[in-house]
Amino acid sequence: MAGIPEYIIDQVRERTDIAEVISKYIPLKKAGRNYRALCPFHHEKTPSFMVSPAKQIYHCFGCGAGGNVFNFLIKYERVEFPEAVRELAKNAGVTIPETSSAGAQKSSLTEKLHVLNKLVADFYCENLRKGQAQAVSKNYLVKRNINQNLIERFMLGYAPKSWNGLLDFLKKKGYDESVLQKSGLIIEGRNGKFFDRFRDKIMFPISDVKGRIKGFGSRALDNSMPKYMNSPDTFIYNKGNHLYGLNLSWEEIRDKNSVVVVEGYTDLLTPFQHGIKNIAASLGTALTLEQIRLLKRYTNNIVILFDSDQAGENATLRSLDLLVEEDVKVKVVQLPKGEDPDSFINKNGPDKFKELLNSAQDLFDYKLNLLLSRHNAADLEGKALVANEMLPLISKIKNAILQSGYLKRLAEILIIGEADLRRELAKVKPDYSYHYKPYGEPQAEPLKANMAEKILAGLMLEDRNFVRSVKENLNCGDFKDISIKRIVERLFEYYDMNVTIGVSKLIDCFKDEENVRASISELIATCENLVDKKKNLDDCIQWVKQCGLKDKLKNLCKEIKTAQNSGDESRVVDLVIKYNDMMKEVRT
Ligand code: UTP
Ligand code: MN
Repeated sequence: MAGIPEYIIDQVRERTDIAEVISKYIPLKKAGRNYRALCPFHHEKTPSFMVSPAKQIYHCFGCGAGGNVFNFLIKYERVEFPEAVRELAKNAGVTIPETSSAGAQKSSLTEKLHVLNKLVADFYCENLRKGQAQAVSKNYLVKRNINQNLIERFMLGYAPKSWNGLLDFLKKKGYDESVLQKSGLIIEGRNGKFFDRFRDKIMFPISDVKGRIKGFGSRALDNSMPKYMNSPDTFIYNKGNHLYGLNLSWEEIRDKNSVVVVEGYTDLLTPFQHGIKNIAASLGTALTLEQIRLLKRYTNNIVILFDSDQAGENATLRSLDLLVEEDVKVKVVQLPKGEDPDSFINKNGPDKFKELLNSAQDLFDYKLNLLLSRHNAADLEGKALVANEMLPLISKIKNAILQSGYLKRLAEILIIGEADLRRELAKVKPDYSYHYKPYGEPQAEPLKANMAEKILAGLMLEDRNFVRSVKENLNCGDFKDISIKRIVERLFEYYDMNVTIGVSKLIDCFKDEENVRASISELIATCENLVDKKKNLDDCIQWVKQCGLKDKLKNLCKEIKTAQNSGDESRVVDLVIKYNDMMKEVRT
């Protein structure tokens, strides 16, 4: 287990409360003994995500995600098991004994890549500080009004012009090419030779909220194409999951309870330099669901400030619907044509920029104005086009009074009947297809087990005495669902060894079997509210037994037929006797 002793993991588990941990990430609402929430792992409008403090598990009935507190962190923070344990150990006040160098070597790929990226960032920084290229790259940043303080805070750097500057540096540090390739920083050429991905570039390290460097952005020093080049997606980096600068701005975002979202690196750096520090950059894309959820940890007020060009407008439009669905309060700032935040400040100064921020428009007005500038609302066709694009947005507004108000205003502006608009609104179908993107690991398959198997396994997870009753009546083989069978096998084993095991610990027995983990949390959630558990247990034992019997009877019939066909009469007689005995046990 990557070096962390089992008893330490147990200590962390015992001193951690899953509800407390999860509530740091998403708002939980008390519902009886449990908590409910909108699932953070898929997009939904009504909560199907539950957390059970008693069992220390979470489960989503919508997407099937489930597990214990470690699994939650692994999935939410995209870390590996040891890292999740370490993280929780810190909060729980459990010290993890320093392992020997052998243990250190076992550190996960995630950790290895974080360490490597930090080393690389330092290398690029050092290159910017000195060396013959210093003059050029420094000059570039000076030209763009990026000062020394900013360079240091954001760890801006310079990738040397040579094909193997970084490669040689890292080889000297003892890295081999296979790890380097996984970082996305080193590329293998057709001739099998490795070389640096980033050459003669200004480098921008991209960190997660905790400041761990996930990947890099880079800009050419001149107008050569491509202007910007980023790290490819790696084991630890997925472009749409991060916001540039958030590691240095989240506190300010939380304190100001608002965030300005811009497109590019310099669009973040320049305002930041002038004191606008509640800011994050989406890195040239429309906001993704992951990015919105990340921001929602700190604030519910988002001000979109994308470039004033066609790409920026389209990115804004694409972001709006999703933001409204996620129940975020959105405002949009419009820059003069052709400008971006960086160029605007450099031309007009920070005060004008702050004024501009204060002029942020309501999302409805923004979208409407944009559409009115694109279509001619004087003719009927134009009216229909504008209405068609406004209605999906209006349909997503949850507050009925607000929705009605917007509808009325749209009718007035387009000079059309409100009743007609309302009829069109009713035709708008929800469309979730464009933003539901499952994470890398496969989603748990929906459970196919019949209800009786589920209830039995769920009850066994609750109470050891139930394990005994089931064990006396059934075999593991009687359970048809593969995940449930795996769970029952374990429960029987522990019962034989006279060991009682908590659900949360049991989940860790299935580290590589996501289906089984999700099954456990589902079973717990399913059985929780059963009344008269003993009766349910007895009924379900009978049911599973009967199912097993029926299967056996079917098989016997087949065997009898085969025996008849081959003329083996004595075997036929034996089988028929067996069949008749079994029939006596079958309930009609
Ligand atoms: P822009 O093209 O608006 O660049 O792209 P910019 O920030 O104004 O750049 P400067 O001022 O000329 O230096 C906005 C963002 O989109 C991403 C980058 O994150 C960039 O900051 N982008 C853009 C890319 O990833 N690749 C590209 O080729 C272009
Ligand atoms: Mn720009």
